[in-house]
This record gives sequence, C-alpha cells and structure tokens, in this order.
Amino acid sequence: MAKMELNAHREIGKRDKKIFGQFIEHFHRQIYGGIYEPGSALSDSRGFRKDVLDALKNIEVPVVRWPGGCFVSAYNWKDGVGKNRVPYFDKAWRVEESNEFGTDEFMEYCREIGAEPYICTNAGTGTPEEMSDWVEYCNLESEGKWAKLRIENGYKEPFKVKYWSIGNENYGHWEMGAKEIGEWGSFVRESAKMMKRVDPTIELLAASIPDLDWNIDLLRKAGKYLDWISIHDYWDKPGINNELSNYEYCMAKTVHIEPPIVRTKSILESLGYLGKIRIAFDEWNLRGWYHPHVDSKTEDCVTPRDKNDDNSTYTMADAVFSASVLNACHRHCDVVGMANFAPTVNTRGAVFTNPEGIVLRSTYHVFALYTQQLGDVVIDSWLGDNRSFTVGEGDAAVQVPTLDIVATKRTEDASLRTAIVNRHPEQPETIIVPVGGSYTQATLYSVVGDSKDAYNDVGINQVRTVRRPLAIEGQQLQFDVEPHSVNVLVLA
Ligand code: AHR
Repeated sequence: MAKMELNAHREIGKRDKKIFGQFIEHFHRQIYGGIYEPGSALSDSRGFRKDVLDALKNIEVPVVRWPGGCFVSAYNWKDGVGKNRVPYFDKAWRVEESNEFGTDEFMEYCREIGAEPYICTNAGTGTPEEMSDWVEYCNLESEGKWAKLRIENGYKEPFKVKYWSIGNENYGHWEMGAKEIGEWGSFVRESAKMMKRVDPTIELLAASIPDLDWNIDLLRKAGKYLDWISIHDYWDKPGINNELSNYEYCMAKTVHIEPPIVRTKSILESLGYLGKIRIAFDEWNLRGWYHPHVDSKTEDCVTPRDKNDDNSTYTMADAVFSASVLNACHRHCDVVGMANFAPTVNTRGAVFTNPEGIVLRSTYHVFALYTQQLGDVVIDSWLGDNRSFTVGEGDAAVQVPTLDIVATKRTEDASLRTAIVNRHPEQPETIIVPVGGSYTQATLYSVVGDSKDAYNDVGINQVRTVRRPLAIEGQQLQFDVEPHSVNVLVLA
C-alpha cells in the first residue's frame, strides 16, 4: 500500500500545454495516406482525412512540428507552395516526394485542428537565406517577393508562425548535411540573425543534444538568439522481429527518461542560459526494431517501414511509457516547455489510418486522458512506500519504481488532478490519500488494457478509458489502480 500526499499550496510551476505537442514528418504514411488522402471518401475537399482531424481535435493538440525529421535536411520549401509543386527524390527516405502537401496545406491543417504550427527548417543542405525567405513567406504582411507570393497563392493574411527550428539532429551522421562541433554554432547564429531580422517576434529553436561540447559551441556563439533548444530521444524497445513490446523491458527503459532532460538543464545552467532558453523535447517515443535508419542497401526498405505500422506492437507498454515521459515533462515544467510525440499518425504514431477508418492506439488514450483531465499548475506531491520491481538479471538488472505520479491543480476550479501510473506488469496497487475536509468528490479515470500486451487494431479494442467514482471515507480516500495502467485521480 502506498501513501500519496498532495500539497496544493506548494506550486512547482505552470506547465506549458505545448508538452502535449505532436510531430508529423514526410515519412512513410504520416502525411500521404495519413493526415492527407485526397480522393478518399473519408477526406474533406482539401484532402484532409476527417476521421484523423476529429481524433486530433479531441486530444487538443497544442502544437505540430513539421516537415521533418531527417526529411527536412534536403527539403526545399519553395518547391511545395502555390502552383509550384515540383516532385523530387527525397534523400532521407529514398522515395519520390510529390510536394503536394506543403507550407500552405500545413497551415490550413494546423488552423483546422487549432494547433500552433512549428516549422523545422533545412539546416542540412539549406542556407540561412532559404530559412529567412520561409519566414518572409509565412510572416510578412506584403513586403518582398515571398510575402507577395503567399498572397498570390491565395493567403492574404500572414500565417504568423511563431515557432521555428534551425535544423534537425544536425549532429548525427545519418542527417543530410550533418554539421561538426565548431561549425554548428556559427551556422545557427547566422541563420538566426537572418530569420529574426525578418520577424523579431518569432521564437527560435536549434537542434541540440545533451552533450556539453555541442552546446558550448552552440550556446556561446548563438545562445543570445535562441529561445529554445531541441532535444530528441527514442528509447529502444529491445528485441528483433517485433516480438516485443516486451512489457518489462520497456518498463526498464523508464529509468532513462529523465537523464537527457536533467543533463540538458544542467548544461543550460552552467552556460548561464537557464531561465532564458527552454527545452523542446521535440521528438520522443519508444522505438521498435524497425527504425527507419535501417540500412536500405542491406535490407528491403519497404518491409521494415511497414512493420512500424503493426498495431499489435503498440501495447500497454507504450501507454505506460508515454505517460511516464509526460509525467517527467510536468516535473521539469520550469525548463521543458514543449514536447512532440513522434509521430502523430501511422509509423509509431498514436493514430493509425487504413482506407476504411482509424485505429486509436494505446498512446492516443493517454493523450486524451492527460489533455482532458490534468490541470495547468504542477503542485508538490509525495509518495510513501512506493515499491519497485526488478527487470533483468545480474549486472543487467534494473529496479523500476512501480508507481510514477505527478500532481496538478486546475486553476479555473481549484480541483486537484493527479496522474498515477502503475508500471507493474501484474499487480494492482493500493493507494491511500489523506484529503482532509477540502474535497468531497473523487473520480478515477483510467487507461486500462485486458493484459499488459493489450492493443487496439481494426476490430480489436483491448485498450480503453474507464471512469470510476470513488468514495471518500472520513478524511481519506483508498483505492486500487490496475496493473499496467495510466490513471488520473480528480479531487473536487
Ligand atoms: O522517426 C524518424 C526519424 O527519427 C526522424 O526523421 C529523425 O529526426 C529521427 O532520428
């Protein structure tokens, strides 16, 4: 039995709703056949899949990062606007890109779902001038040829894109036009100068990694122009042939969620940027064996990519893991202001499309639960007698804390809303909460699965969200949370 104490008077900080952000890339079936499918009976007149739009509206997506990912590092945005749709060979994923879906469509998409657009620029083969031209196209009223081109393309009002990233994973050997420490900082500085000269109100991000040398170069040279640094993490699901999600091993990976945040925060602090530059965790997810970086010369490219769409591999392990990432972002709300689940649709996304409809995977239910039920202010919480369980053996053994909680308060009605993740594969946990006389109503919302390996697929609904009223007896509340479950306790 664990005891949970909540202190509504001690506020940790305001959490930025952008931590529930999403990422969509021109990769696999994320755009084409994902959010965009002209000609489908399920699409609207713009080609947007209506079922996907509804699903994304339901989880109140605050911000969408686009167009990549690795894809962006050889992308020329000018070939994808207005009437100028030039197909080209995408070097990242080695397929033809039709350029049918470009900046104009992305803006319409974000408007439709009520999300802030966030553009990641090409800092691989691209130049500072191409980046600032893009800002001109999106944000200037009418000055210059790029704003005029936007107007000519039918968009009189500027798109007013606030969030712009310089690059994606440019530290990585896999990235087109990868950069070395030493050149990255000056490249970011010169790009930032150009972009902010066009629109000083934009917020700039730059590709980063929790590495001291990379950040010394980046921040010393370009820090004063930056509002954010972007970090990514994909925690590998071990195993091959997708025989996993092995639930226990995914749980062992939860101990690796916070270190990249903590490392990046301490780098920002030691270089004098804490409080000035925030972290955007702008790609994150668990990742199966069939990662797209698989060598396309030695493996059939198509097969591994499509295996990423095997719904049976997105189980309660993904739900529990994703909730643990979102909990960590809440805990570090002083510095993590944005996070983008990668990706939104298909591949490893929360929504899967097929010609007849969509499947809401386990992670979708977590986003729905958190965006609809959690509050906006993180408050102090404490867990006594939290047990742990062991995964692996000998030197490889990992102790995984069973419960992971984060408490919040909703400003508008002062209700307390606590996320409670039970990572244990088999055992329910009993929780006691002293509530004093302040709260008279308690409700538990839970994302649960028939088993730890439960998943959703066409015609299979093993993962769902349930609501349970709880009885407060005296001044305390006692209840159980199911094994492998994600819960929000609401006290009003
Ligand atoms: O998910 C695919 C790729 O993973 C993204 O393009 C890249 O940014 C990351 O390495």
